[in-house]
Amino acid sequence: MQNFTYYSPTRIHFGQGQIAKLRSEIGKNERILLTYGGGSIKRNGILDQVHAALPGYQIHEFGGIEPNPSYETLMKAVAYARYHGITHLLAVGGGSVVDGTKFIAAAIPYQGEPWEIVTSRGQAIEKALPLSCVLTLPATGSETNCFSVISKKQTMDKQSFASPHVYPHCAILDPTATFSLPPRQTANGVVDAFIHILEQYLTYPVNALVQDEYAEGLLRILIEEGPKALTSPQDYDIRANIMWTASQALNGILGVGVPQDWATHALGHEITALHGLDHAQTLAIVLPALLNEKRQEKYAKLIQYAQKVWGIHQGSDAFKIDSAINETRKFFERMGLKTRLSDFNISEADIPALVQKLQQHGQTALGEHQDITLEVSQRIYMAAL
Ligand code: NZQ
Ligand code: ZN
Repeated sequence: MQNFTYYSPTRIHFGQGQIAKLRSEIGKNERILLTYGGGSIKRNGILDQVHAALPGYQIHEFGGIEPNPSYETLMKAVAYARYHGITHLLAVGGGSVVDGTKFIAAAIPYQGEPWEIVTSRGQAIEKALPLSCVLTLPATGSETNCFSVISKKQTMDKQSFASPHVYPHCAILDPTATFSLPPRQTANGVVDAFIHILEQYLTYPVNALVQDEYAEGLLRILIEEGPKALTSPQDYDIRANIMWTASQALNGILGVGVPQDWATHALGHEITALHGLDHAQTLAIVLPALLNEKRQEKYAKLIQYAQKVWGIHQGSDAFKIDSAINETRKFFERMGLKTRLSDFNISEADIPALVQKLQQHGQTALGEHQDITLEVSQRIYMAAL
């Protein structure tokens, strides 16, 4: 196991009725900007619950943060918040709203051009406003981590940043807030969380027993509970287990002391930026192709994954690896996602532009060995057609 430092400052209130805890988290004198997306929180009653939890508070609202939150929209919130002297941000929604609100929190006090926050990958952030969140879509782990992914419509860029200043102050995880999720978003969340775990687990062994067993357990939970959430969307226990798993998948704990990959995410972000596919949908396309391309480098972990997650114990090593990749693809398809670029009319002719975007973003040495060059990325995109 490698050395590590772990820090996770977000207080979590988990369970039904926990939105009421906001009152104990946010001071009565704060000027709050409540941020949200396209309106699902109005339709499912979550917005009303948030207002009921904060009676007599000064609450401003900023809606319209879109999936893959855009710099253009977020800058409107920044101007609004500066004008009204906002002191606390409250994100109510999925990963896009939480990510967007992290950007807003860092951009409000930022002296320069706020896009630098993104291009510096968060290094430019010296301070940020405090933010709390009420999560409505288990997927990204953004509710307790320090990452954010922002898109710029004008230039078709989608890039991530990280900063210890944007850890949420508190996160409310009420599984009943996820009952209203449409199947597509339920499925996206399960697949995104699954791949977050694999990005930290499926590399090469460093004898990190805690991280490995933990990752394998979380993966098995998603395989078992994910399809059930599609058929029983109002089942509290299923939603609760998925919500807690997705949070654990990317709160940093699985990635401590182990090598990490993240190439699937890098390749996927470019597909979203240029073709508009949902985040998880891009990952479901890239991952099977990437695992096959890197089967030698990931050999030992692929065998371990086959045995401990999929229960594949018979046959040659090559058979186990093929079967594990195949089972992974079938799982994504069982959840309702597609696993080929051609399912979205993306063809060979579109690949050079994706590779060019990777180059522009400096994504030229990806993966746990930094050996996924542009040439390798191109092969992965081709294999994903
Ligand atoms: O906008 P509203 O009306 O709220 O509807 C949303 C949106 O259309 C809807 N939704 C959310 N909760 C709902 C609901 N509909 C009904 N009932 C509910 N309870 O779902 C749609 C998608 O929401 P979005 O927030 O975009 O989804 P997700 O949570 O999957 O977030 C995706 C974004 O997070 C980034 C992705 O790149 C993408 O931009 N990521 C962030 C990460 C992080 N911060 O650590 C890591 C991830 O790998 C990922 O890259
Ligand atoms: Zn993701």
